[in-house]
Amino acid sequence: PGVRPLIAGNWKMHGTLAEATALAQGVAAGAGGAAELLVCPSFPHLSAVKMAMAGSAIGLGAQDCHAKPKGAHTGDVSAAMLKDVGASHVILGHSERRADHGESDAEVKAKTEAALAEGLTPVVCVGESEAQRLAGEAEAVVAGQLGGSLPEGFARAGGVVAYEPVWAIGTGRTPTEEDVAAMHARIRAELVRAFGPAGEGLRILYGGSVKPGNAKAILALPHVDGALVGGASLVAADFLAIAAAV
Ligand code: G3H
Repeated sequence: PGVRPLIAGNWKMHGTLAEATALAQGVAAGAGGAAELLVCPSFPHLSAVKMAMAGSAIGLGAQDCHAKPKGAHTGDVSAAMLKDVGASHVILGHSERRADHGESDAEVKAKTEAALAEGLTPVVCVGESEAQRLAGEAEAVVAGQLGGSLPEGFARAGGVVAYEPVWAIGTGRTPTEEDVAAMHARIRAELVRAFGPAGEGLRILYGGSVKPGNAKAILALPHVDGALVGGASLVAADFLAIAAAV
């Protein structure tokens, strides 16, 4: 209550330009309602998606940026470049980047600082592995990731945290409602500890196998201020149904 929910779609490495454009048009055509919407296409599709959503209030996010403002970094993309093509947000530290590219908390923090310097809203992802969950370490792991990944200016800029248990991503499995609520309460406590009262108003998204069928129950939990949706965000009707569950 008090925080406007954010429903974000992470399109990951999917689709053609034509498919991304059509998906953006479909989302824009059905947008409305209580939630703020954000779509995060791959780099080559950002500009076209921006144009396809022109006139809508849907945010545009990228899925990564470099920590440096510019330079000899072949294959990388700066926060300024994202801003320049109309992005408002950037996902950072997604578990797939932490796994595929060995991104450390320190690197995620540096990237988050770069995003903040350009006025982009960072969506910083944290989450435990299944082994860590089974070992009873989930909350400690996530608290550690938050402590290592969030820079000082994060709260002032209205940064977003996404809790994504790695074992729930793309698997159709989700934690119990009790476990989601407990983790989000812990994340809230960590944010308040780090940032004071400003931590109360920051959005904490849940991600990992969010679908139209489970969205209402997940989004109703305390300190769940929205969702970061992967697979279901690739179908406009499903993404909009999740947004409508707010
Ligand atoms: O960023 C989104 C998440 O990794 C969730 O993906 O909804 O396909 O499980 P998923």
